[in-house]
Amino acid sequence: MMNVLALYQLKGGVGKTSTAVNLASLAATSGLQVLLWDLDPQGAATWLSGVDATLDAKSKHWLKGKSALGRYVERSPVGGFDVLPAASAHRLLDVLLNKVDQPEQALAKLLKPFSEHYQLVILDAPPSLSHLADNVMMAADCVLLPVIPGFLAQRTLELVAERMDALKQPRHKMAAFYTMVDRRRTVHREQRQVQPVTGVSWLDTDIPYASSVERMGLYRQPLSGFTAASDPANAAYAALWLAVQQQLSRLRTA
Ligand SMILES: Nc1ncnc2c1ncn2[C@@H]1O[C@H](COP(=O)(O)OP(=O)(O)OP(=O)(O)O)[C@@H](O)[C@H]1O
Ligand SMILES: [Mg+2]
Repeated sequence: MMNVLALYQLKGGVGKTSTAVNLASLAATSGLQVLLWDLDPQGAATWLSGVDATLDAKSKHWLKGKSALGRYVERSPVGGFDVLPAASAHRLLDVLLNKVDQPEQALAKLLKPFSEHYQLVILDAPPSLSHLADNVMMAADCVLLPVIPGFLAQRTLELVAERMDALKQPRHKMAAFYTMVDRRRTVHREQRQVQPVTGVSWLDTDIPYASSVERMGLYRQPLSGFTAASDPANAAYAALWLAVQQQLSRLRTA
């Protein structure tokens, strides 16, 4: 049984990609076959996974079924998981996902063959409301939304929830968590008083603001590759992975 976990947010720079790479590594360590699909043309997830390839498929070949996606899969040299690298051509995915019947379900269809090999697919999505984002919301069993504490965060979550409604996707597929949390900042503490968005789950694990997360870009590795298990950010991601597993099993039995 394959679960699809998406990292998505309307807001940019909130730690989606860092989270995607760390969760991919933690899931692999816990014994799962994991595929991380870098859906962002910026290719940050590909880079952080230590992979240099790009997905250079010609969309016309793809659509005619001549080139299966699987042949573009690379192994992360340190992460213990596989990577479907970012597309080299700008907008390749958007074009591709528009050319089929039921265009909102194109990504889900592309993912189907991977269920033979993988127990977990992690989608790292770019920030925007787009056709690709719609596809991500449709394909995911769980949409994981990093939130930096702040009073406007609630509004962006609400917008994503409304888009889920429009796509007839249940809001309980959305699970939010706080990231880049600085406990010394009063505003970060106050934010917790804000009423949550109806129907959206909150995971009870925070990712702290930590320079070790930024260093992932230097080492091109998940945190577990170059920090101790006791590193606060590394430990926080391990706790988040536990919470995500619980959320996935709750969703399965719901
Ligand atoms: N917990 C954290 N503490 C400190 N810095 C962080 C943390 N999480 C992410 N960062 C840094 O913030 C920047 C953005 O992170 P990341 O690329 O993971 O976000 P993103 O949401 O995927 O961004 P984008 O919207 O551009 O795809 C990076 O420089 C990253 O190293
Ligand atoms: Mg990103």
